[in-house]
Amino acid sequence: MKTLIKNGSVVFKDEVKKNDILIENGKIIAVAECISGADEVIDAAGKTVIPGIIDMHVHLREPGFEGKEDIASGSMAAVAGGVTQVCCMPNTNPVCDNAVVVNYIKNRAKEAGLCKVNPIGAITRGEQGESLADIGKMAKAGAVALSDDGKSVMNSNIMRLAMEYASDFNLKCLCHCEDTTLVDGGVVNEGYNSTVCGLKGQLRAVEDIMISRDICLAQSLNLPVHICHVSTWSGVEIIRAAKKNGVQVTAETCPHYFILTDDIITNFDTFTKVSPPVREEKDRQAIIEGLKDGTLDCIVTDHAPHSRKDKEVEYNLAAFGMSGIETSFPLSYTYLVRSGIMTLPELMVKMSYNPASVLALEGGEIKVGGVADLAVVDLNESYEIDGNKFYSKGKNTPFNGYKVWGRVLKTLVDGKVVFDIEKN
Ligand code: DOR
Ligand code: ZN
Ligand code: ZN
Repeated sequence: MKTLIKNGSVVFKDEVKKNDILIENGKIIAVAECISGADEVIDAAGKTVIPGIIDMHVHLREPGFEGKEDIASGSMAAVAGGVTQVCCMPNTNPVCDNAVVVNYIKNRAKEAGLCKVNPIGAITRGEQGESLADIGKMAKAGAVALSDDGKSVMNSNIMRLAMEYASDFNLKCLCHCEDTTLVDGGVVNEGYNSTVCGLKGQLRAVEDIMISRDICLAQSLNLPVHICHVSTWSGVEIIRAAKKNGVQVTAETCPHYFILTDDIITNFDTFTKVSPPVREEKDRQAIIEGLKDGTLDCIVTDHAPHSRKDKEVEYNLAAFGMSGIETSFPLSYTYLVRSGIMTLPELMVKMSYNPASVLALEGGEIKVGGVADLAVVDLNESYEIDGNKFYSKGKNTPFNGYKVWGRVLKTLVDGKVVFDIEKN
């Protein structure tokens, strides 16, 4: 069966062009100005066709925390957000630190049949930071990266061994950077707002020390490392300098770090609580600059769905994390492209092409011969974000009421429509 996407503005790696896209057996077999002859036609006139978003940092919570999210609900939320492929973090229960859990996640994702789900294996057993997990067996089972996300591996020698062992299997370590000996109960950024609110703060150094440590290891060992969810201006500078010196470092940030500042914590809304915390205007500007100049390679969500009972408590007791997978495209499009900071092809490189290349995944680009993972969006449609309408079980977004542009209309994975706004 052949599917034809007709008359859309197609986002290629470095240009947007009116083109038709012909799909057969899950692959893009032709891209040209006027194609005819297909079994199914999707009319994309006046609409834009983007490569499927690859969100390389999400929490799907299954196994163990299905009250917050499960693989089916998280996959549904993903495709509703134009996301065709995710990489899910191992801080589940049991922790994904062995091949059995890797296989379980892959099977559950196949049953859901929506987006592609790539498990990330834990670096250490039980994410306890003490001994290495079954890295070889997880690699063989299909883990695409390693991370103890939620925490840093504080023991530098274990981190060294992990980076060396991971490289034997061509896997990268994705580093959540948080010095647990310095965090000292901090729940927000340490600064004026934390003082005014009487909330305990976290210094930028909590994050920067671990960014520096992991970059030092990568440099000394001549091995790659990937820095998760960068939030500080100083972290951006450390990574920029390392790249300049030839260190094999890549890095990601999230929409909340280039859109929000800690001014939002002053109403004590626990949906604003996230690790690392949202920071100050200087940080926000530096994150934008880092995205622009290539210091920050990828935009991810760190989609961290939580149940109501995890968030409807006082600020100090609330869980860290934001539900982000359904809003990453419209937020990024609105705040980075519509505002003139970058072009749409440049945005899709951050959301799709670069994540694929950092983790050697398929997809990330619309091209002949490529996999037919893409989304049809309406860039002229605006709407207000309402977390209560999310497909995700996690309604915890700090962006309620924000007006955004860029509505995801259809999402295709391997050429199959898995989300259609008119039918879902
Ligand atoms: O805010 C966060 N939530 N940061 C993390 O690193 C972990 C995540 C979670 O699992 O909820
Ligand atoms: Zn993290
Ligand atoms: Zn995370």
